[in-house]
Amino acid sequence: MTPTTDHECDVCSVPCFDRDAVADDIAAIQALKAQRRAIVLAHNYQRPEIFHGVADIVGDSLALAREAEKVDADVIVMAGVHFMAETAKLMNPAKTVLMPDLEAGCSLAESITAADVAAMRARYPGRPVVAYVNTSAEVKAASDICCTSGNARQVVESLGVPEVIMLPDQYLAANVAAETDVKIIPWAGACEVHEQFSPLDIVKLRLNFPGVVVLAHPECPPQVIEAADFSGSTARMIDYVRDHKPAQVALVTECSMSDNIAQASPETEFVRACNFCPHMQRITLKGIRRVLETMTNEVTIPAPLFAPARRAVERMLAVR
Ligand code: 13P
Ligand code: SF4
Repeated sequence: MTPTTDHECDVCSVPCFDRDAVADDIAAIQALKAQRRAIVLAHNYQRPEIFHGVADIVGDSLALAREAEKVDADVIVMAGVHFMAETAKLMNPAKTVLMPDLEAGCSLAESITAADVAAMRARYPGRPVVAYVNTSAEVKAASDICCTSGNARQVVESLGVPEVIMLPDQYLAANVAAETDVKIIPWAGACEVHEQFSPLDIVKLRLNFPGVVVLAHPECPPQVIEAADFSGSTARMIDYVRDHKPAQVALVTECSMSDNIAQASPETEFVRACNFCPHMQRITLKGIRRVLETMTNEVTIPAPLFAPARRAVERMLAVR
């Protein structure tokens, strides 16, 4: 990670994308959304031209799961990764859910199968299984309840037990364990983007940018979280910048976040201490346009998995 306050994009006004280059795709997508009665849900890590250009609802995984439950549309286009599209489908069985690129996965979701969950249950009998939403529908179906980085501690504590299995992110599990008395049995998965950050990165940031406020996502290793000033989900980081208005901030997470929120915080300078998620980056305006034109790349959930996977998400949404 080489921190800089410059961005690679040299056409960077704010937000960082060339409006003329994308105007045609944005206009086409807006027309297709009206024609198909479609809406675009976009995660906070999406490219700025998607986040600012065509998204109807933006947010962290928790907000997208909540909003997916309420949408009034025939078609949902998920500008995010595969597990987010599956979650949208679980909450909206009657709607068509499309993904601009079905290969947009997640290293966490790919780190565990339902058979692995069964093996964990056999090894630790009686412990409830808390599955991060960054899991496949198959793994959700094998779990008791889901959580996101925005509600993980509340979900774990809501179960009222002394010990839980929490999977698949070993770092999120360790970071939650540091905040609660509940004993947490982790799985060995990791986010390929956040596991790259080290405490030395934070030391260098503070040396190069004295006074910088460092916000880190809870998928980072615990030593990174300890070295940061604040840790929270992508939505919590955005709220922090909005509420505290730091003069200079480093978002230790996926790079697009800074581009997406810079416009709303002109008084804050963003230090680009970030890595790109290759899966999130697979989603493009052209991909969104294509699936709305062709109505392809539909995401479905195998019938036997539907009810148990939905139950795990609903149980999470019921936790305040
Ligand atoms: P949030 O729930 O914080 O948006 O995180 C999702 C994610 O995939 C982070 O890498
Ligand atoms: Fe998965 Fe990490 Fe990408 Fe988030 S940033 S989608 S956890 S690989």
